[in-house]
Amino acid sequence: MADWFIRPYAGTREDALELLEVEKRSFGECPYSAQELAARLARPEQRVWLAEAAGRVVGFLSGLETLGLGGPRLEADLLGVHPDWRGKGIATALLLALRRQADGRKSVRGVVSVHNPASARAFARAGFAPSEHACDLLLYRIRGRTPRALPAWGGAVRPLAQRIEADQLAAIARGDLLTTDRLLKGSQETGVTVLIAEKEAAIRSGMELLEVHTLLYSGLWIESILPSEAWGPALRAMVAAAIELAKARGLDEVGCLVPQDRWSLRATLLEEGFSPLDRYRMWQAHPLPTERASL
Ligand SMILES: CC(C)(COP(=O)(O)OP(=O)(O)OC[C@H]1O[C@@H](n2cnc3c(N)ncnc32)[C@H](O)[C@@H]1OP(=O)(O)O)[C@@H](O)C(=O)NCCC(=O)NCCS
Repeated sequence: MADWFIRPYAGTREDALELLEVEKRSFGECPYSAQELAARLARPEQRVWLAEAAGRVVGFLSGLETLGLGGPRLEADLLGVHPDWRGKGIATALLLALRRQADGRKSVRGVVSVHNPASARAFARAGFAPSEHACDLLLYRIRGRTPRALPAWGGAVRPLAQRIEADQLAAIARGDLLTTDRLLKGSQETGVTVLIAEKEAAIRSGMELLEVHTLLYSGLWIESILPSEAWGPALRAMVAAAIELAKARGLDEVGCLVPQDRWSLRATLLEEGFSPLDRYRMWQAHPLPTERASL
């Protein structure tokens, strides 16, 4: 029998302190004190699982529930196992716990660096399937809060608010299977902002942004661009607006996973000050029914 087990994070000071210890031994990137970390983990969207052995936390998976135009999801955000406890199936078991928590409705996903075979193996063993193509993660780190003027392109960028705007955006994003109702409902969900770029009374494109508060940072994910091949000047204005929004909200960064063949998106992000980080694959899984807890 295994000498470790998986349980939910209990929200205690001890759990937060011990999780932070494992984070230090697996990533060492968490900028928060145990108290700050505990406050972040108390957010309602957090779904955190721990591995315990001999009365100590030896592994963790911080999951996030997100809502967006693609529907509710569980994100397997950060996974770490203490070096003394690796290779025993702990990461796999943590990922399976998150899949079971998806209550039959939400898809579960995580991004894994193409240079991290141990993590990829754990995701595969937990039943996740990788995306065929890898994406580059491009990141904009907010350094100053002074607002910057948006690039002049003859149009305006603002959050989607009205049905007529959702109608127009749905019409141009047709290939992305988005209806007016879905756009309107999605744009009103907590943590979701849909920006629209309008010029001469016509909506040219949209951008879906998700606000996330993880163990390592608070930021905006550029989740989707509508239509996916957006007109250059409108795209640039929306990227600049996303950065301004992150500044205004006191966030740390804006990130975007860019598929290899999206040259114009990559060029626009680089022009606006994003830096490439690493290459990742998206790993996805269906939720697991709770009764398969013994898997
Ligand atoms: C990635 C990590 C969480 C895996 O934890 P773990 O508990 O050892 O994972 P598991 O035991 O469930 O599975 C790991 C699998 O990868 C395999 N593996 C380990 N190192 C490997 C390597 N360098 N190349 C290929 N496979 C490797 C293990 O053999 C095991 O597969 P197996 O059971 O089929 O033999 C752990 O190594 C870690 O904390 N790394 C540092 C932080 C990190 O990279 N986190 C993931 C990114 S979010």
